[in-house]
Amino acid sequence: MKDSMELMRERHSVRQYLDKKIPEDVRGQLGAYIEELNEKGKLQIQIFYDEPDCFHSRMAQYGKFENAVNYIAMVGKKADDLEERCGYYGELLVLKAQELGLNTCWVALTHGKSKVLTAQDEKEVIIIALGYGKTQGSARKSKAASDVSNLSAASPEWFKKGVEAALLAPTAVNQQKFQLELTDGHTVTAKTGLFGVKQKVDLGIVKCHFELGAGKENFKWGVRKTIVKIIEKQSVCNPVTDTCMWFPFQ
Ligand SMILES: Cc1cc2nc3c(=O)[nH]c(=O)nc-3n(C[C@H](O)[C@H](O)[C@H](O)COP(=O)(O)O)c2cc1C
Repeated sequence: MKDSMELMRERHSVRQYLDKKIPEDVRGQLGAYIEELNEKGKLQIQIFYDEPDCFHSRMAQYGKFENAVNYIAMVGKKADDLEERCGYYGELLVLKAQELGLNTCWVALTHGKSKVLTAQDEKEVIIIALGYGKTQGSARKSKAASDVSNLSAASPEWFKKGVEAALLAPTAVNQQKFQLELTDGHTVTAKTGLFGVKQKVDLGIVKCHFELGAGKENFKWGVRKTIVKIIEKQSVCNPVTDTCMWFPFQ
């Protein structure tokens, strides 16, 4: 059996698939894993096979998808961390699919309407196309470890491996806008930029790769601190019109 580092190295986005059905035993394994991940991630992941409509849109043609008839829909109850959880657990599924000999592609934009059913308090965050690829895809450009982390010669080996794995993570439009920081020897903080496409999904995917590369037992995730600037106000009131204007203190 291949280890997760090998799977991460082999995985590339694939958008053109063979006209080949996914056999029942593979469907069974994916189904069982989805059930497990739905439980762990409190998600409602759904999988669709032999359904050509979702990728028969102009957007999908623009995205150069071919024979994309199977997909996983990442769905869950609306929550602040839903997108990150979809990224994390979706990437575990992507790597499982890779292990089962399938190819995948995360798709946020270039697809049509999916067959997903959602309750009112649920949201479809993103889908993942899957099937037997015409090719295994190809390696793409990547940022360097120094662009995305504070890795140095003195960093522990597990941090180096985690960053290496994170750089293999798929990100929307290959933006790789994440930062991993080792703060106190065993605490790592992960964050993304403020602007970009589906950055929170990216963050979940990156954290999944980092954990697999570094080994969960070697570190803990640090809490990201949000700096909240409180702007105090002063008022200037007009007693005649009985109105006040508010100005922030400098
Ligand atoms: C959150 C996310 C959204 C993506 N959305 C799309 C998309 O709408 N269409 C598409 O063709 N590829 C999409 N991709 C695939 C990326 O373009 C691809 O992962 C990236 O270029 C890196 O290439 P790699 O997956 O081969 O490593 C998406 C990837 C991620 C992680």
